[in-house]
Amino acid sequence: MADAKTAAAVKAALADVEIPGGGNLAGYAGLSDIIVTSGAIALAITVAPGMEPAFGPVRTAALEVVERIAEGRKVLVSLTSEKSAAGHAHVRKPGPPPKEAVAGIRHILAVGSGKGGVGKSTVAVNLALSLAAEGLRTAILDADLYGPSVPRLLGLDGKTAIREDGIFVPHRAFGIAAMSIGAMLHPGQAVVWRGPMATSALRQLLRETDWGGLDVLVVDLPPGTGDIQISLVQQVPLVGAVIVSTPQDLSLIDATKAIDMFRRTEVPVLGLVENMSYFVAPDTGKRYDIFGHGGAKKAAESMGIPFLGEVPLVMGIRETSDAGTPVTATAPDGPEAKAFRALAQAILNQNPALRP
Ligand SMILES: Nc1ncnc2c1ncn2[C@@H]1O[C@H](COP(=O)(O)OP(=O)(O)OP(=O)(O)O)[C@@H](O)[C@H]1O
Ligand SMILES: [Mg+2]
Repeated sequence: MADAKTAAAVKAALADVEIPGGGNLAGYAGLSDIIVTSGAIALAITVAPGMEPAFGPVRTAALEVVERIAEGRKVLVSLTSEKSAAGHAHVRKPGPPPKEAVAGIRHILAVGSGKGGVGKSTVAVNLALSLAAEGLRTAILDADLYGPSVPRLLGLDGKTAIREDGIFVPHRAFGIAAMSIGAMLHPGQAVVWRGPMATSALRQLLRETDWGGLDVLVVDLPPGTGDIQISLVQQVPLVGAVIVSTPQDLSLIDATKAIDMFRRTEVPVLGLVENMSYFVAPDTGKRYDIFGHGGAKKAAESMGIPFLGEVPLVMGIRETSDAGTPVTATAPDGPEAKAFRALAQAILNQNPALRP
């Protein structure tokens, strides 16, 4: 069924769900738009403060009726409350979240940055592969719901499989498991998640996936310090965060903001990675410190956090990323892979508890 038709069918089905106080969910003012992708159907129900318990069964009933017409798509239904302050209605910060470990995952490690485009996803994927090469059972979760890039970086294809009981079966690539909302979208489809829906989608990706047993789940965050980052730190205990920066001053200043956020939320900062640290000429192999090299190391020292290492700016990294053949897995003995392996080793040396 086409997406628009499916959305209409979902809306119609919601007419069968009664809500407290009379009426049905389809006609309820707090029902969000219905997002339909090739792999998921998402909607949010916003209720008055204090009404969440009363609407709990509504959420369950909505899940049931939508699942019946979901044709194998995963159904995400979030329930949030609206609180008015000084006359302005606003959506409350992500739910009442008891921080709870995810069964079967020993450690969750986030990769973040203050600024976009510094190479977080590239580092996250290659770091995950490097941790796997060190013998850790590893997976990657793409938490960049607004701009997922893990499917491209790992060359994932095909839709995410869903077990009969509604649990996601993660993709596998190069020896690691991987989950991304990107694998549930049509090519070119962008989804505008509202805050609460993003929180709920993240929770389901985390908790409704059959990860198997993992030593470490690497989470690729969106840039900056927005709702997804906050939501992640509120939902699960993190072993720590790795901050990626480029040598330019500007992104280092931005990195400081990301470091601040993790510190304020009591997430240990495992250290700073300097990506695109220096340029290696493809023809001569000569190294050029075009960005004024060494800034990240000094910045890390001044902020009192470990400096984990540097990754060169090389065509090979960009090309293998675009091709879905990450350099750490496809050229494990090359200099690029060695840079990523060294990062993983620095993290493991400083955090031996991560090892199995
Ligand atoms: N060390 C590197 N050498 C060459 N190219 C790189 C390197 N690191 C990243 N890139 C390229 O830079 C671009 C941005 O990288 P990436 O998508 O990993 O950044 P990001 O920080 O995750 O971005 P966003 O903020 O959009 O999530 C990509 O085209 C990637 O291939
Ligand atoms: Mg990214």
